[in-house]
Amino acid sequence: MKKTTKFVSVLLSLLLLAMTACSIEPKVNSVDITQPDIKITTPESNWAFITYSLSDYNNKKVTITFSAEMKVTNRGSSPANLMWQINTSDYPVICQKSFPNGTSDFVKVEGTAKDIQLGSNNSVYLSTYQLNTSDLTIEIKNVSYSITAQGNLPKPVVVNEDDYWLSDKVPSLYQTYKNLFDYIGIAVGYNGELNTSEVQKGLVKHTNSITMGNEFKPQFICQWWGNNPQTNGTFTATNGKTIKTPTLNFSNVDEILRICKNNKLKMRGHVLVWHSQTEDAFFCEDYNKSKSLVSKDEMTARQEWYIKTVLEHVAEWEQKNNNGEHIIWAWDVVNEAIADGSSGSYRNTGSKWWDVYKSDEFIVNAFRFANKYAPKDVLLCYNDYNCTESAKRNGMLKLIDAVQKHQNDETLPTRIDVMGMQSHISKNTSSSDYQSAINDFTKKGLDIHVTELDVATETSYNSAELAKAYNRFFKLFVDNRKTSSKHGITSITIWGINDESTWLNTPSQMQWHGNTTQYPLLFIKPNGKYYIKEAFTSVIDAAK
Ligand code: GLA
Repeated sequence: MKKTTKFVSVLLSLLLLAMTACSIEPKVNSVDITQPDIKITTPESNWAFITYSLSDYNNKKVTITFSAEMKVTNRGSSPANLMWQINTSDYPVICQKSFPNGTSDFVKVEGTAKDIQLGSNNSVYLSTYQLNTSDLTIEIKNVSYSITAQGNLPKPVVVNEDDYWLSDKVPSLYQTYKNLFDYIGIAVGYNGELNTSEVQKGLVKHTNSITMGNEFKPQFICQWWGNNPQTNGTFTATNGKTIKTPTLNFSNVDEILRICKNNKLKMRGHVLVWHSQTEDAFFCEDYNKSKSLVSKDEMTARQEWYIKTVLEHVAEWEQKNNNGEHIIWAWDVVNEAIADGSSGSYRNTGSKWWDVYKSDEFIVNAFRFANKYAPKDVLLCYNDYNCTESAKRNGMLKLIDAVQKHQNDETLPTRIDVMGMQSHISKNTSSSDYQSAINDFTKKGLDIHVTELDVATETSYNSAELAKAYNRFFKLFVDNRKTSSKHGITSITIWGINDESTWLNTPSQMQWHGNTTQYPLLFIKPNGKYYIKEAFTSVIDAAK
């Protein structure tokens, strides 16, 4: 072999080796992220009051280099120990600093956490310990960090402080719509949402009504958590049956009503009768979930007692603490009693309510008892999803007929005022299907509440496309609002504040959307604060 040929062949094999090495070793990439300056006074907990979400880096092994300048004013007796950590199982600390009593100047804190395996819901967060947070101010500026990992890394979310939901530059959702609808609402959780002053301020600005995601459901009012409850009293029902009554726990309910009162917020009560999130023991002999289901008579008495106890508890609370003025202005009396699919029949699987009655008797009864025990000016609602599917909707219309048939009964007449269209819709949901649903329900003499609105972004998210869908639906809502001459929409509630906490990204829901992350809401929360999305602006524009 000639020398030059040999040289070329060595070169070629080196090149090949380099190429193979490249394809085995995935490329390491890095993203640089900066965050707005932030000032926090009296943080509400001593951990995680500032968080920077890492959820875009799910399943990646990352190295994070973090740097910020911090100034702490603490008038407590001990120094302020502040740590930037990551909330994986061993809580690695990226950097920490102890700030002495009194006022400090800005101090730079920086550090690196290497090879951290991230899961789906991790973040970088600031925590303190051994500290009375009630007398503390923390200012943070020049926050920047880089995330390094193998493979492609998504671009970080860049926020503009003018888009902060409490900024004067951001209009109020509620004020924008207050002449068109009675109520504009958002659904929230208690812990970490409603019990923070940040969320209370946001709700006061953007809504006049809230729905609790969980806390007013039977499971949460019972608080038996899968156990068999104690019984502590008796109740004689309208059907003559005397039953033993189990314990209920209203402490969270009362606390939530108090927050609503203090912030002048109203609430849709959600929910009295539902096949889901209701304790099995509620349906069983002696409230013992391993015993058999009770008789219809016993169950009807239990249902009457539960509805009476909850509604009277709220009315008494309002009487005592709010001069009798209602906080809860509407109740979802029955939720999701129609089966999925094309049968249009009642939900007859996975429902203990159905198992006891094998008929719609418990649905009709629920509206009898709600009518008997709710104040006359509190609206009663049947609430369901997939109202745009005509077969399923026919089932709902049949249910409404069944309830309305008894509205003039001499004993225990029913009352139903409102159809709750949950509206877990998609950017692809057709306006004309939605319009048909509104037409069918209003023809029954009902008004409409949009009770759980979110818009799935399906397998590809594009901010402008979501904005267009929200605009399209809010225009449709405005066109179908209730007026003095026609039934229509009186209230719109969006199911959640920000994308990071949507229920659509739970595995059971993601399967319906191509197992793809969904971005269905109007706000994002990239750093512990809430910012509007393009979809929010498109909703504001729809009112014009
Ligand atoms: C249904 C229920 C709600 C809630 C959502 C999921 O729509 O009505 O209470 O559980 O599912 O968040």
